[in-house]
Amino acid sequence: MTSTLIAPHGGRLVDRLAAAPRAAELRAQAASFPSIALTPKQSCDLELIAVGGFSPLTGFMGKADFVSVCKDMRLSDGATAPGRQGGAGSVWSIPILLCVDSTTAPRVGARVALKAPNGVLQGVLTVEEVFEHDRKLEIPRVFRTEDPAHPGVAQVLAEGDACLAGPVEALETCTDPNGPEAFLPQRLTPGQTRAAFEQRGWRTVVAFQTRNPIHRAHEYVCKCAQEVCDGLLIHPLVGETKKGDIPADVRMRAIDALVKKYFNPGTTLVSVLPAAMRYAGPREAVHHALMRKNYGCSHFIVGRDHAGVGNYYGTYDAQKIFDQVDAADLAIEPLKFEHTGYSKSYAGMVSGKTYPRIEGDIVNLSGTAVRDLLAKGERPPVEFTRPEVADVLIEWARAAK
Ligand code: ADX
Repeated sequence: MTSTLIAPHGGRLVDRLAAAPRAAELRAQAASFPSIALTPKQSCDLELIAVGGFSPLTGFMGKADFVSVCKDMRLSDGATAPGRQGGAGSVWSIPILLCVDSTTAPRVGARVALKAPNGVLQGVLTVEEVFEHDRKLEIPRVFRTEDPAHPGVAQVLAEGDACLAGPVEALETCTDPNGPEAFLPQRLTPGQTRAAFEQRGWRTVVAFQTRNPIHRAHEYVCKCAQEVCDGLLIHPLVGETKKGDIPADVRMRAIDALVKKYFNPGTTLVSVLPAAMRYAGPREAVHHALMRKNYGCSHFIVGRDHAGVGNYYGTYDAQKIFDQVDAADLAIEPLKFEHTGYSKSYAGMVSGKTYPRIEGDIVNLSGTAVRDLLAKGERPPVEFTRPEVADVLIEWARAAK
């Protein structure tokens, strides 16, 4: 049966998870391979390559892709990608690199055991290329700033000088099944979300990305999007986030409590995205959309300052960037939302598009303001956070004291 869902990026869902006999063979061989200890970000990237979340990538990027992604937001596959007719490469906005210390970098041709941060053998890389990590190219293009205080920039600055490229074969997806951030029942692969959508008869599915507990504004944009799509995939990112963000297990407890009471199970699915945040604002919005295309979503919510941090990006930069990418190749459609919030004078959720007086009228709290309230044992106001969500956050803040 042909799928009625959006096609994966590049036309085919990549699967780099070694099946049983091959996995046993790889485990035995890997004992004699040089090994690399992956950072949390690299481990997330490996999982996403393995399960097809990064389709069409089958491994860590080589230099041609890296340069092309940084300069043109495209892969270097123009000559070969299906449907590209030898023209421009597939849209791609974020480099997926395996950077290591140049003094210990293996040679081309070597096979390398990739160890997750907890020491588990997560996969094997066949090194096809070793190239210099050109941070001067990557940082300003990807992050639009070179400020070392930017968390994504700081992360790239801390990475090794040598990039190893080549195909991977993965042995594990969730490396720590008993860890607090495993979320096994909700850790669906793109193949599994696609099957779930098909089973529910959804053709159009809108994805909601978040790295926060779901507040009223998030809930409102999800509900608006639900009105125009068959289904909603609430797809919180549970990979590495910066210090100060609320831990993923707390966020997931809050999301589960919210969804149970306020969402229609017939049109809502919650699953986790094991990706690391880059905080790259506009470029990361495109990246987030491409991953959700692979998970089978036809639409993607992009609100205010998507994937932003501090004041590095304009409020709607992450929406404007979609006008610069090849919409036909991207295929997943961004659903753009203005700044929304609860208006006291209107007594409901609004945006500047639906109600003219939002300035100074809507209840708006930054993540820091929420954390400050919680630290004092105070509940965020009900106009900002549902009580069921506030309960989870208060309990966490108390326990963390
Ligand atoms: S993000 O890093 O995952 O983008 P966050 O969890 O805060 O951060 O946001 C999730 C999504 O909701 C993003 O698309 C963001 O733009 C959107 N969003 C967050 N707050 C608002 C708001 N008040 N109004 C409209 N959209 C919002």
